[in-house]
Amino acid sequence: VFSDVPKAPPDAILSASEGFEASTNPNKLNLGVGAYRTEEGKPLVLGVVKEAKRRILADASQDHEYLIMGGIPEFCKLSALLAFGADSKALQEGRAATIQCLSGTGSLRVGGEFLARFYSHKLVLTPTPSWANHKNIFERCGLQTQGYRYYLPATRGLDYEGLIADLQAAPEGAVVILHACAHNPTGVDPTPEQWRGILQAVQSRRLLPFFDSAYQGFASGDLERDAASIRMFADAGLEMLLAQSYAKNMGLYGERVGALTVISSDAAAKKVESQLMATARAMYSNPPKFGALLVTIILSDPELLAQWKVELKGMADRIHTMRRMLFDALQEVGAPGSWNHVLEQIGMFSYTGLTEAQVENMTTKWSVFMTRDGRISMAGLSGTKCKYLAEAIKDSVEN
Ligand code: LMR
Repeated sequence: VFSDVPKAPPDAILSASEGFEASTNPNKLNLGVGAYRTEEGKPLVLGVVKEAKRRILADASQDHEYLIMGGIPEFCKLSALLAFGADSKALQEGRAATIQCLSGTGSLRVGGEFLARFYSHKLVLTPTPSWANHKNIFERCGLQTQGYRYYLPATRGLDYEGLIADLQAAPEGAVVILHACAHNPTGVDPTPEQWRGILQAVQSRRLLPFFDSAYQGFASGDLERDAASIRMFADAGLEMLLAQSYAKNMGLYGERVGALTVISSDAAAKKVESQLMATARAMYSNPPKFGALLVTIILSDPELLAQWKVELKGMADRIHTMRRMLFDALQEVGAPGSWNHVLEQIGMFSYTGLTEAQVENMTTKWSVFMTRDGRISMAGLSGTKCKYLAEAIKDSVEN
């Protein structure tokens, strides 16, 4: 009965890892998926995570019971505080409904399902380009997606005029996806001044902002600064949604820990929360426990919280070092063109500007696995591999 089912196209990001696993080249490099690696190329388990894990295992009262549909209440409270800040009026006034979800993707999906059922507009605006999964997620919820201008290849910067013009021309009330910081894949973020302009455009068209925050702490190394855009919008009194992920900033990728917050009016918040829970119930019943317990322990203990900030800064700093080392190596091997953007872009990725044909050469000839749009994960690079990568880039640009 399923013989007519068409084969799904390979995933734009995750298929790079499959190619990497299959490669027998000893120099192969996996710069596809955004996953942090140590200088030795190994996954990193943060010290705070190890300590939280130790505490869970030592606690005889821990069991494997179901969580409630919205997850661990304390986790939800702490997650909202981390994003919106202790001074947030929206939190103080009880206008926020937060539920624990399955990392960033799960939070976006529950948010999308909620919007599809309860919001009057079915159009979701996403930046061009955006994280490849945004379109998948919202279209599977039955919503339509449409791009708004974001990145200008000529300047390798933000297309601010285009962005504002597109938001101002958007249908009133449409949903707009905004990357809170460390825009994926471009690594180009608006300045605070530009964020104010975006806020005005959103307000003037009564757009509904849906922030995707997958890199808090990874852009600047500072959790507060990386939440500035979210707080600017919430403090302006807007109704909005927020998807948070702890995959990158706590290194909890496979534990699937995240949160969805909907900020509405105080009269609506409890009803919204009940519908978010009902949505989760129909999708997966209730979220997994272990990762959220780890996060709860870390965020609620001042000492662990302080240590987390240090470890997070350590990861952000290593990525900066990789940017510098790759830039220097590109100079050293004489790769044609300007590579300043490798230094200037923010977050985990570098949007190299390599064309699809050049990426093809990177992969087939050099076994450098990356996404076809030219994005490389700087977090997956190590110092000893910079020269090899620079040579691969030089060869791909020249041929
Ligand atoms: C990425 O963009 O590489 C990450 O967000 C991982 C993913 O699920 O795509």
